[in-house]
Amino acid sequence: MPDNTPAVTREELVALLNEDLSREYQAIIAYVNYSQVIKGAQYMHIATELEKHAAEELSHALIIANQIDYLGGMPTVTPKPVKTSEKAEDMLRFDLDNENETIKNYRIRVRQCEALGEYAIAENIRGILVQEQEHQSDLATALGEDVPDVARTEEMA
Ligand SMILES: [Fe+2]
Ligand SMILES: [Fe+2]
Repeated sequence: MPDNTPAVTREELVALLNEDLSREYQAIIAYVNYSQVIKGAQYMHIATELEKHAAEELSHALIIANQIDYLGGMPTVTPKPVKTSEKAEDMLRFDLDNENETIKNYRIRVRQCEALGEYAIAENIRGILVQEQEHQSDLATALGEDVPDVARTEEMA
């Protein structure tokens, strides 16, 4: 495991997965809100994408809650706070920042799960990561930017 990934116990993994679950709830709420509030002809395509993201985030929340239950933990019912804005660019920026944070965390989580021999949980998270990177790419494209290199910030963290 790279040096920047702290080894964790099963109890610590449950707590970390609950943080991940809170981020998934945050993502569901943000995508539900932003997909309906976002205005402007140039944002209609991304609005449709945001609706799809909302449904995918719900499926992630269910997968993560299932892994927590499997480990004997209690899935949290509390989302991380969701920012609101009337400005389309702000909404896309909030979403992109959250996706970057989520990807950074799941990459670490895969390594932590594997270190504990929890290969199936790691595999489930890999599947989620594939979709989070698609979300990240959709948002960066809508903002007219390159996909950010989260691996770099991950090493610095
Ligand atoms: Fe997600
Ligand atoms: Fe996402």
